[in-house]
Amino acid sequence: MKRPVLIGIAGGTGSGKTSVAREITRNISPENILLIEQDNYYKDQSQLTMAQRVLTNYDHPNAFDNDLLLVHLNQLLDGQAIEKPIYNFAEHTRATITDRLEPKQVIILEGILVLEDERLRNLMDIKIFVDTDADVRIIRRVLRDIKERGRSIESVVEQYMGVVRPMHMQFIEPTKKYADLIIPEGGKNQVAIDVLVAKVNEIVTSMI
Ligand code: ADP
Ligand code: C5P
Repeated sequence: MKRPVLIGIAGGTGSGKTSVAREITRNISPENILLIEQDNYYKDQSQLTMAQRVLTNYDHPNAFDNDLLLVHLNQLLDGQAIEKPIYNFAEHTRATITDRLEPKQVIILEGILVLEDERLRNLMDIKIFVDTDADVRIIRRVLRDIKERGRSIESVVEQYMGVVRPMHMQFIEPTKKYADLIIPEGGKNQVAIDVLVAKVNEIVTSMI
């Protein structure tokens, strides 16, 4: 197997990163592509109480275990399988089980801060930033966090104003400058998805 190609997809919360990454993955043969979400590499907080976990700043680079993520990405790029952690958003910590993932020709790494860490950027062959206006992102986030992450509207708004917004401006927005491609609006940008699917297919064909 040739060295796999790593594609990084960053962008603010609710920008549509996960949707873009899943749409690309869905359109590529599953034996050729693997999707890794940086969310799964939030630090383990099982030693903390729930009250302490709620106070963590999840939008700061220090919240992520990028050391483990780097080890795993290097293993995948070397053709080795990994035991990926699984994150539980309702509990704010890692699950006790892991997910065994085999390496594939194309690996997508998706997450708010994947372009912030120079070590991650240096491993990437293609860097993408999904760019969606903040008013659209907060609306998407409110709906998603209540429906899928067990949150109240008050908690989402308080977290957004207190932490998510300032951290976005300090750490996420500036990483747009590292992107090779900027995708507006995220998950329903069919032109961007078609172009990326064609690119990934070209990469896979060139590796056979
Ligand atoms: P992120 O991973 O950047 O936080 P998601 O892909 O999870 O964003 O999208 C957040 C929410 O917005 C999801 O409910 C998703 O279905 C929705 N969404 C994503 N892209 C679009 C789009 N272009 N138009 C409308 N809704 C979208
Ligand atoms: O999927 P998305 O990119 O929105 O995920 C990142 C967001 O998840 C961050 O903005 C962070 O505030 C939020 N988060 C959370 N609770 C956690 C971990 C992350 O609200 N336990």
